[in-house]
Amino acid sequence: MPKLNVQDLNVAGRRVLVRVDFNVPLDGEGRITDESRILASLPTIDWLLERGARVVLCSHLGRPKGKADPAMSLRPVAKRLSDLLARPVAFLDECVGEKVEKTVAIMKDGDCLLLENVRFHAAEEKNDPVFAKKLAAYAEFFVNDAFGSAHRAHASTEGVTHFVQKSAAGFLLQKELRYLGDELAHPARPFVAILGGAKVSDKIAVIESLLHKADALLIGGAMAYTFLRAQKIPTGDSLVEEDRLETSRRVLDLAAKMNKRIFLPVDHVVARRVVTDRLDKKGKKIVEFQDVQTTAVAAIDGGLCGVDIGPNTVRAYAAVVAEAKTVFWNGPMGIFENTAFAKGTFDMAQAVAASGARSIVGGGDSVKAVNKSGLAGKITFLSTGGGASLEFLEGKTLPGVAALHER
Ligand code: 3PG
Repeated sequence: MPKLNVQDLNVAGRRVLVRVDFNVPLDGEGRITDESRILASLPTIDWLLERGARVVLCSHLGRPKGKADPAMSLRPVAKRLSDLLARPVAFLDECVGEKVEKTVAIMKDGDCLLLENVRFHAAEEKNDPVFAKKLAAYAEFFVNDAFGSAHRAHASTEGVTHFVQKSAAGFLLQKELRYLGDELAHPARPFVAILGGAKVSDKIAVIESLLHKADALLIGGAMAYTFLRAQKIPTGDSLVEEDRLETSRRVLDLAAKMNKRIFLPVDHVVARRVVTDRLDKKGKKIVEFQDVQTTAVAAIDGGLCGVDIGPNTVRAYAAVVAEAKTVFWNGPMGIFENTAFAKGTFDMAQAVAASGARSIVGGGDSVKAVNKSGLAGKITFLSTGGGASLEFLEGKTLPGVAALHER
């Protein structure tokens, strides 16, 4: 049964509680360093306000562990949201209680209010029904637009749906499900998936799921070293998950049986990893990479570790991407936060952008990399979900979606 959508609701004059994912990165001074999640929620908020709804927004920010922490306040978001909507957005330093009740009671049609971080209460993550009921009491309708949090069964994502008249999917949630769901289930072919990131263990379920959907899989990031080691190729001091070698072998065998092509790096950027005695701001020892060089082959010598895919790998991967009609990308190709090791990731972003394929990028780091490369405008869809997009691609049910009312 399809879920209720926000456009199915008659919202004029109604109080609507909207769960958004405003879990945005802040610098130490409360400045938002990436506002893409705020921008992505604007269509739903705008639509509701234009129709005269009284909009009460709630979200989490960070992981404050059930205690109020000024460093994780949503106050800076209220200010930015107000600028973006070009209308006032009231902010309350609480998300439940008398102050909220009084404020909501005098809201007028077209008013917008942002509540403080729901995770300042431990009850949120416990999906406590008493807390959920309090949140739900501020509205007749609930709209979930927080795709990034839809894999969490928390009070503001799942619990509230049991205490409102109607709960529906916002425009962002609908869009995410359409791109990551329908589009990838029925892709224009060839469908190429690019997967990177540090660990096979984080991505194994996604790899297996994509193996059934995609025609070819391109593997990069530290994850590739575990796959190489599984084939007995020397990986030097690269990050390898010894306990995933068997799993990696199984995936490679499965791909061969299914006649699917899995590509692994044929060369690498490598370096010597040196842990210095100097400490960073968090008190952690600073790691330096010395003797940076490019290998001519897939094997890596002892004492060196892989930090990026090499130029021959980029060429080979770009050639596969150039033939694709659909591309899904999750996970960077190397330690892209370090500009010296970002080339492989940025070159792949360039290849995806130039391919003209329908391109979907999911997961926090890959989206960050695409944004940093300046090519975001050339990508068909950038998912706002990190963990949520992975769990969805694995085929798991997202509690925040499952709980919404059916049409
Ligand atoms: C995210 O950034 O992936 C979401 O906002 C969820 O955050 P969480 O992993 O702290 O639940």
